Amino acid sequence: MTVDEKLFSILNSLDQTHWSKKLREIIQKTQETKKHGHIKTWKNAINGLPIKEKRNVTLNKSVISVKNIELNDTEKKITKNILKELRPWRKGPFSVDEIFIDSEWKSNMKWDRVKSMVSPLNDKTVLDVGCGNGYYSFRMIGEGAKLVIGIDPSDLFMMQFRAITHFINPIQLYLLRLRLQDLPSNKSLFDTVFSMGILYHQKSHHRHLSKCAALLKPGGELVLETIIFPGMSNFINSGNQRYSQMRNVWYLPNLNELMIWLKIAGFTEIKLGSINRTSIEEQRSTEWMTTQSLIDGLDPENHDLTIEGYPAPHRIVVVCKKYH
Ligand SMILES: C[S@@+](CC[C@H](N)C(=O)[O-])C[C@H]1O[C@@H](n2cnc3c(N)ncnc32)[C@H](O)[C@@H]1O
Repeated sequence: MTVDEKLFSILNSLDQTHWSKKLREIIQKTQETKKHGHIKTWKNAINGLPIKEKRNVTLNKSVISVKNIELNDTEKKITKNILKELRPWRKGPFSVDEIFIDSEWKSNMKWDRVKSMVSPLNDKTVLDVGCGNGYYSFRMIGEGAKLVIGIDPSDLFMMQFRAITHFINPIQLYLLRLRLQDLPSNKSLFDTVFSMGILYHQKSHHRHLSKCAALLKPGGELVLETIIFPGMSNFINSGNQRYSQMRNVWYLPNLNELMIWLKIAGFTEIKLGSINRTSIEEQRSTEWMTTQSLIDGLDPENHDLTIEGYPAPHRIVVVCKKYH
């Protein structure tokens, strides 16, 4: 049975035949969409990973790790080189035997902030929107979720996930190369939807938030993690402005605006986490992500400001419920 078929059969067993049918159609349709130019190289690289007995993965510690694969020295070298071919590793860390993938983000730091606010994930059906290579989705399974579906349009991140799962026993985690807008919105499925680090990349915040609401069961929980602006100001990109060197940041709301957006999109019981300034300890270049990182987007003389003179990135976790 292919991975996708397994997911369809789980959805059927959850009485979600409508969803499995619809997803099958969507996956088929999106498979025809343009793939990254390096996809063949990445797939070939992954096919070169040593074939070993699969092991259980550790999901409830900072580093997502798979141990005792018993790679000999040559196999370890091959594996490390292949994993490096899949750079940049933005989210992590992961460890495969003693190969430590020191990603750009110490994603465990964000997860610790998020986890302390989320209702227990035990036995929940979860959607991770903009899941990247699945670091957080793995952690959600580690918290007892029954099924996690991660979606992200990036071929590279799908390949990184495939490389990690090459070594591990199957878990109820499925990453799909899809965008939020590809999912059906006429039937809610999820108990919890995570939208982390993605709202500010959307041109329409309302379309994004209301789609998250549509996918949640009534009373389900949205976990939103995003950048906000201090005070009453905001950032608007009306064309070619950059924020901290990023071209694809469209709007950074202040807290008031964010609360209003959530209410209009159909959320209630809004709980705010503390506001956290992203540190250059949490996001930095490493040998697994060798290009520019947070520090290059900050004013070299004043890290309170971005290089363009805006307030440096401050992030917040918000947890709220969909109206019944
Ligand atoms: C800044 S990363 C955040 C990754 C991770 N969720 C985190 O919090 O660290 C944004 C991710 O969203 C993905 N993305 C962008 N637009 C998307 C969309 N419309 N639907 C789903 N994912 C999207 C990108 O490919 C990227 O992996």
